[in-house]
Amino acid sequence: MVISEKANSLIKDFEKTLSLDGPGYGKGTLYAGVDLGTAYIATAVVDDQGVPVAGALTKSQSFVRDGLVLDYVGAISILKEQVVKLQAAGFPLTSAAVAFPPGTTGRNANTFGHVIESVGLEVAGMLDEPTAASKVLDITDGAVVDIGGGTTGISIIKNGEVVYTADEPTGGTHVDLVLSGHFKVGQNEAESMKRDPDKQWEILYLVKPVFEKMAAIVNTHLQNHQVERIYLVGGTSCFPRIEKVMEEETGIKTIKPANPLLVTPLGIALGCKNFCGSSKETVN
Ligand SMILES: Nc1ncnc2c1ncn2[C@@H]1O[C@H](COP(=O)(O)OP(=O)(O)OP(=O)(O)O)[C@@H](O)[C@H]1O
Ligand SMILES: [Mg+2]
Repeated sequence: MVISEKANSLIKDFEKTLSLDGPGYGKGTLYAGVDLGTAYIATAVVDDQGVPVAGALTKSQSFVRDGLVLDYVGAISILKEQVVKLQAAGFPLTSAAVAFPPGTTGRNANTFGHVIESVGLEVAGMLDEPTAASKVLDITDGAVVDIGGGTTGISIIKNGEVVYTADEPTGGTHVDLVLSGHFKVGQNEAESMKRDPDKQWEILYLVKPVFEKMAAIVNTHLQNHQVERIYLVGGTSCFPRIEKVMEEETGIKTIKPANPLLVTPLGIALGCKNFCGSSKETVN
């Protein structure tokens, strides 16, 4: 089994909208989703058919870490820029759904909503990140593993229902630290090296232990669950062969979609479609 063609083309369509120079969209209701991550702040906008029409992706150094919004003011300022840019491009957003890392509860989860309100948007609804991702993947069973900048999130889905979630530190930042230490370069340079397709093969042996650690986290959480497929999302999952390491360590068939980085933000926008009528932005 592979990722459905429908899911992959949805992700690729969203990728195209990020430049904001696409053909635009017609009339109808818009739904927005905001992903406040450790490494990126992303906003996705879909129309009433669930078709991606706009998006924004901004690198965000450590505004969010280990499931907590650390730099509230910094996160607000980046998101505000994105919203203003999208509005200026003709997408009149007034509300958005937002996601929080699995296991984040109470005030910590509510803080994600407060960031949305602080940029002048209404919170259409909140959902956890891997659940958002599963909406894009269009799956009813399996484990969605979201390996982002700071954490590895796990969400187990059975018959379309989320039955278990967890989130633990270890993400792309930890990969950067290994490279930074080995090559004696700063973390930014290490990160660029990690994302360079010409370098990824030669550094795989160095970063593999970090991927094994991520797989060990997944193994621990899957212990008491019967799971037949792991779906890898999150920016760190873009690294070639990470899915092979995951598969070898867990013994579970592991697959990843086109551009895993964009799956969760897009899923949050699709999640927005499921929330109440107050999430609607109608364009005439
Ligand atoms: N092509 C790539 N190859 C390897 N790593 C990548 C690639 N593109 C992005 N990344 C890494 O993905 C991470 C960001 O992923 P993502 O946007 O999913 O994280 P986040 O949502 O900001 O973080 P978190 O979910 O942990 O809070 C960064 O560590 C970044 O370096
Ligand atoms: Mg994330």
